[in-house]
Amino acid sequence: MALIHGGQLDKIAELYQIPQAQWLDLSTGISPLVYPIPEIPVAVWQQLPQPSADLLTAASHYYDCDHIMATSGSQSIISKLPLLCRQYLAEKLKVWLPAVGYKEHEKAWRDNGYQICHYHQLPQPAQLTAQCVVIVINPNNPTGELYSKQQLNHLLSHLKNLDGWLVIDEAFMDVISPTQSLIGQTSNQHLFVFRSVGKFFGLAGIRLGFVSASPIWLARLMAMSSPWEVNGPAQFVATQALKDTPWQQVQLAALQQLSKQLEQLLMQHFSVTISGNLLFKTVPLTNAPEIFEQLCHAGVYVRLCDENNALRFGITTDTELNQLRNILQEI
Ligand SMILES: Cc1ncc(COP(=O)(O)O)c(C=O)c1O
Repeated sequence: MALIHGGQLDKIAELYQIPQAQWLDLSTGISPLVYPIPEIPVAVWQQLPQPSADLLTAASHYYDCDHIMATSGSQSIISKLPLLCRQYLAEKLKVWLPAVGYKEHEKAWRDNGYQICHYHQLPQPAQLTAQCVVIVINPNNPTGELYSKQQLNHLLSHLKNLDGWLVIDEAFMDVISPTQSLIGQTSNQHLFVFRSVGKFFGLAGIRLGFVSASPIWLARLMAMSSPWEVNGPAQFVATQALKDTPWQQVQLAALQQLSKQLEQLLMQHFSVTISGNLLFKTVPLTNAPEIFEQLCHAGVYVRLCDENNALRFGITTDTELNQLRNILQEI
């Protein structure tokens, strides 16, 4: 069954009978400030997309890692990993997943018959078993929880001894400074790291992500992928975006400012501790479904978290923030 993640504004607009253009859509954690799309040569549209060495060089540099492969969104690799695991590790392994977090990971492993164990805090060494897999979303979406490199390295060393895997989804790591990324350590055959271009660059529509892992695994993942895994325009735009350090610096500063403003507004209105990061803010609320309804009736679409105990607000531009301020005053 398809999961609901925010986005899909057309469905919500229909449900509440408000035209799409009138909504304030804060339902995703995708930056509202979009990397300026350069002019794309006609040949890039016309030709079959070959894997671009230029893109991989730009990505290795931006992410600071040696082994990297482009995928059509990190989602593409989330669904492939259980298949890779099934081919090369024992069957019916245990997979540890965050109890709260982007649910596509769980769906992928569950659909492939793996045994799912949930954790609220990282599993302890005594809980880990031979060839188990631990998935960590770092920072977590939607809780914003961030594990340190030290905690993750501790876990990795235990998993290595057990011949297991540590899989870290760093879709939102671009906005964590100083970075807590483990992507530079993927020579370790027990570690996989996923990155997403969609969030920080505001380019979710081009469907581009990366996986970093030991070259043995990357070769096998490559063999499981389409020869035209990532489309040409996406490769072209992302190569420029990943190389454009001045834009990245401006983007980070702008997101810091917008994030602070949104957090202040939400704190004033809801008087609770807000979590999240520079791309989204999560507000814990006992009556989250009720507030979600009220916001929808007022034309504001946020993400009702799967546990029905929180609302996640995507970062807004200044204009949208004023709109949100006015609406919050009314509800
Ligand atoms: C934590 C997390 N990982 C991965 C993804 C997938 O992102 P993409 O396929 O656009 O790279 C999402 C999308 O919302 C996400 O929230």
